[in-house]
Order: sequence, then structure tokens, then C-alpha cells
Amino acid sequence: MQFPGFSVGDVRVETPLVLAPMEDVTSLPMRLICKRIANPGLVVTEFVSAMAIHHGAVKTLKKMQIHPEERPLSIQIFGSEPEVMGETARLCEEMGADIVDINMGCWVPKVCKTGSGAALLKDPVLAEKIVTSVVKAVSIPVTVKVRAGWDYSLFAAPDLALRFQDAGIKMLTLHARFAKQGFEGEANWDLIKRLRESVTVPLVGNGDVKTPEDAIKMLTETGCDGVMVGRAAISNPWGLARIAAALRGEELPPEPTIEERIETALEHARLQVAYQLELGSYEEALEHPEHLQNEGWAIRSLRGQLPMYIKGIPGAAQIRAELYQANTVADVEQALSVLKT
Ligand SMILES: Cc1cc2nc3c(=O)[nH]c(=O)nc-3n(C[C@H](O)[C@H](O)[C@H](O)COP(=O)(O)O)c2cc1C
Repeated sequence: MQFPGFSVGDVRVETPLVLAPMEDVTSLPMRLICKRIANPGLVVTEFVSAMAIHHGAVKTLKKMQIHPEERPLSIQIFGSEPEVMGETARLCEEMGADIVDINMGCWVPKVCKTGSGAALLKDPVLAEKIVTSVVKAVSIPVTVKVRAGWDYSLFAAPDLALRFQDAGIKMLTLHARFAKQGFEGEANWDLIKRLRESVTVPLVGNGDVKTPEDAIKMLTETGCDGVMVGRAAISNPWGLARIAAALRGEELPPEPTIEERIETALEHARLQVAYQLELGSYEEALEHPEHLQNEGWAIRSLRGQLPMYIKGIPGAAQIRAELYQANTVADVEQALSVLKT
């Protein structure tokens, strides 16, 4: 069975599968790998601090970098100042984003203590002002990602959704947990179904989708228009590809071979070095080794992800320590080579 795509304003999402925004994970290299292997309908950047952009933080600006191959793409921003959020949204549009998404789901203290992220679930008036300001600032579609509410005492999402819909958003994503939960417990998909009854804009459901069966179940049981997948896609673009194929009504692709997993981990490492060091490509840089002085910094930023590419392969646990200590693509290649059959 094929599940139809949906439209976010005038942006068409062909496959109803969205790669979730994930800080320090869904950077440009990871998104490109997911796009090439799974081709989800939409990808989202990790969140970008509007205040940091306002203050000219170059490191934050880099997170807004886009590759034409990954479109349609949404840049996610967070903040608590309506004007600053509008200003940053305008920059997203200038950088080539197809959509700008506002984060109202991040529960971590460093974000919430500034009144941003999930803290906005407690302040519907300010949340609405932010949405209005962003909608006014850009001509691309604006979307919001929320959690169900701050804590269990109030399912705030339906009221917020109606306010945002009136303010002009073109899609809403619900991570079906309350902010106070963090990642504890199971996502409650029934909340997605209840929210579906209140909103008319496309609704994307999120939380604990790991397999094609989960994705189909969420779509059919809640009536949402699309599913968003986060953790299950980390170092596992093939898992995302299986979900995408199922939703397109295609035959599921086979599990990746060990060689594919190793080669993709290496490609991720090369892309990360090129991206972090602002090089055209890793191969080009090899001809000018002086450009690779900070290669270790780029490789170390993948410490969480590289070992996950080989999870479950016999012998993988033994080389994890080597991967943690790797400072160059050559080190990663050397560590992984022992797994080749
Ligand atoms: C490492 C990590 C970083 C995340 N960063 C963001 C973020 O920048 N913006 C956001 O809206 N959600 C963020 N999330 C939440 C995910 O987008 C998603 O809502 C959550 O992981 C639930 O989906 P899942 O069960 O498919 O992982 C992050 C999650 C993880 C695991």
C-alpha cells in the first residue's frame, strides 16, 4: 500500500516521512547520507539558536548551510524573542530553506531557562507572538514542532495548534510526549489522534517510530499525514530507507552488508571533515594536507555516531575504543578494516 505525500504550503513532501531535527546529529553530512540512501520526503536541520545568529555566531550560522541535493529542507530555529526569531527566519529563507520550523519541544534546561523550546508550551501568548512574527517575516511556509504540553496536567497542544493555525502555520509536528518526560516512557500516539481532530493543517506524528510497521501503524491509527523519525535513523540510513520504501509501497530493501556499513561510516567521516573544515571535498583536501590540520576535531564530533554504524557486527565492540580515539579518516579506515570479510 502506498501512503500519499502532503503539501506544506507550496512545498510538496512526496513521501510522508520526515527526518527529525537532532542537535549534533542531523548536520549536513548526515542529512546527505540519509537523503542518498533513504530519500525521505523532508529533512530538518538540527535546531539553530536565533539569539546566537543575532549575535553573529559563525558556528551557529554553519548549521544553516544547505546542499541542493537535500531539498526540500526545513531549517529549525529556537528562541523567545519574536523579533529576533523573525530576523533569523528571514535569514533561513535567504540561505535557501524551503521551510522554517519553530522548535517548541526541546525540554533541556539550557534551552528552557531562556524561555525557548518547550518552555513556550507554558506561555501560549508569547508562543503565538513568535509564530506571528516569523510568518510575517518570510514568504516560505512556517511550521512548528511541539510536545504535548509541559507536564501531564495539561494537554496544551490542541489550544496552541489552533492559535498557530490562525497565525498562518502550514504544518505541525507533535512529539507525543510531555516536556517533563524527557525521553522517558513510551510516546502516547493517542495524543496525535486527538490533535488530528482539532487541526486542519498537515500533522506529522513523532515518537518511537523504528520500523516500517510502526510508521504504518502511526499513520493509520492516528490519521496523521506524515511520520517523523529521529533516533532510529542515527547511523542507520537503511532503517530509514525501509520505512520510506514501505510508505512508497515499494519492496523493502535488504539489510546492508558489512561492507556497506563500513563504507557509509567512512563516507560520513569524509563528508564531516569536508563540512567542518569548509573544504570542497575530502579527496581534494588530500592534495593539500595543510588543510587537514583540524581533521581530528571533525572526526571527534562523530564519536557518538561512528561506532553505531557497526553495532551488532561480530568484533565491533572490540574496535569501539579505537574509533573513539580516531583523529583522521585514515584512523577510522584502519579501525574498521578488521571487520571486512
Ligand atoms: C540527539 C538528539 C537531538 C535532538 N535534537 C533536537 C532538535 O534540535 N530539535 C528538535 O525539535 N528535536 C530534537 N530532538 C528530538 C527529536 O527530533 C524527536 O522529537 C525525538 O527524538 C523523538 O523521536 P524518535 O523517537 O523518532 O527519536 C533530538 C533528539 C535526539 C535524540
